[in-house]
Amino acid sequence: MKKNLKIGLFGYGVVGQGVYEILTQNKTFGAEVVKICVKDRKKRRNLPESHFTFEKNDILLNPEIDLIIEVINHADEAFDIITTALKNGKKVVTANKKMLAEHLAELVKLQQEQNVSLLYEGSSCGSIPIIRNLEEYYDNELLYSIRGIFNSSSNYILSKVYNENVDFDIALKKAQDLGFAETDPTLDLAGYDALFKLVIIAAHAYGVFVKPEEVLNAGIMNFSRFDMQFAKEKGYKIKLISTVRKVGDDKVAMFVLPEFVTEDRQLYNVEYEYNAVVVEAAFSDKQFFQGKGAGGHPTGSAIFSDISANMYDYKYGYKKHYQENKLSYTTDLPIEIYLRYYEEHNLNQFQFEKITERYYGKDFSYVIGTIKISNLLKIKDYLNTADIQVINTGKLNDI
Ligand SMILES: NC(=O)c1ccc[n+]([C@@H]2O[C@H](COP(=O)([O-])OP(=O)(O)OC[C@H]3O[C@@H](n4cnc5c(N)ncnc54)[C@H](OP(=O)(O)O)[C@@H]3O)[C@@H](O)[C@H]2O)c1
Repeated sequence: MKKNLKIGLFGYGVVGQGVYEILTQNKTFGAEVVKICVKDRKKRRNLPESHFTFEKNDILLNPEIDLIIEVINHADEAFDIITTALKNGKKVVTANKKMLAEHLAELVKLQQEQNVSLLYEGSSCGSIPIIRNLEEYYDNELLYSIRGIFNSSSNYILSKVYNENVDFDIALKKAQDLGFAETDPTLDLAGYDALFKLVIIAAHAYGVFVKPEEVLNAGIMNFSRFDMQFAKEKGYKIKLISTVRKVGDDKVAMFVLPEFVTEDRQLYNVEYEYNAVVVEAAFSDKQFFQGKGAGGHPTGSAIFSDISANMYDYKYGYKKHYQENKLSYTTDLPIEIYLRYYEEHNLNQFQFEKITERYYGKDFSYVIGTIKISNLLKIKDYLNTADIQVINTGKLNDI
């Protein structure tokens, strides 16, 4: 039976304001924001002062409030708010992927001990309803892989650079001005944001709870015009792609890497702030979801759907995690990469199993070869900081 809900909102930034607007525009929905907790006492707000508090316990200890929406921009503080709320028997909706990915196993345990719901559709791919689909629709499907564009800022930047010849730094600034980018750009550009979403999605798709530091993520921190030139000459686009896929009968591999995408792939035409998810499964075959991956209203729409689900007492079941014969996580998977570099000593870090192409030029050099994910994982900090660029050729991705 549908229930009315009294809501305490943490955070009134891009997403907080988006959710608030959606809730106030849906007057007959049956949910009311009782209080909004924010941080900065000096900031000017577009609502009367009486709506706000700076004291978290005004919400967490208020017996009238039954649901917390947590959309602040700080993972540790969010974890503290959420665990306190769950322990106090309050339902929680959050979009904080970093906090979720870092604490998923303990949060699942806590919500089950307390028998309250923690929903987070807005944490992964904005408006695309992927988590609830994995939970409810694909719960018994044999999934081959989930792949996609999970980070709006890097996709926006790559689209601007590729389609409009805009400088990388100008494209980044524009993504920040439009509210797509995380406060710390490394989270987007080094693939961390995409990694956190992948960790969450993998938990629902395959039942594996893997810590973010155990997963390879390399992004476009050192992207250069030479990489773009290489891709354009071959007719490829470059997209930052998150992959989780079954390996053999009992293992699952996952990684975030930029990838060359050919024109015949659905991800080729996913541009700017759009995200996309491709689900490949044994019986339903290939399915493609596309939608806005960031911004107040798209993310707010996913949160709104979670609030609505709470009115019917919906909880995630984590069915694939609790089933027998669970899959285990592996990094023992070869992929083929393009490695662009300027100085030969950069190559010493890489243990290629096979090299298929080499180019030495006066401006830049590259090598294309096969390498294990486990080798790249060992040097993931190096991949994101040295003046090199790794791009998955995608040639060994097909299963
Ligand atoms: N932006 C997106 O498109 C998007 C999409 C999906 C998920 N997310 C996630 O949603 C969350 C919020 O993102 P955002 O872009 O809305 O951030 P934002 O625009 O920077 O807003 C953050 C809000 O959090 C408040 N805040 C920070 N620390 C707080 C604390 N300890 N207690 C109470 N309030 C606190 C800030 O207060 P003040 O107003 O006082 O500064 C501000 O209102 C993040 O976890 C982000 O990863 C964002």
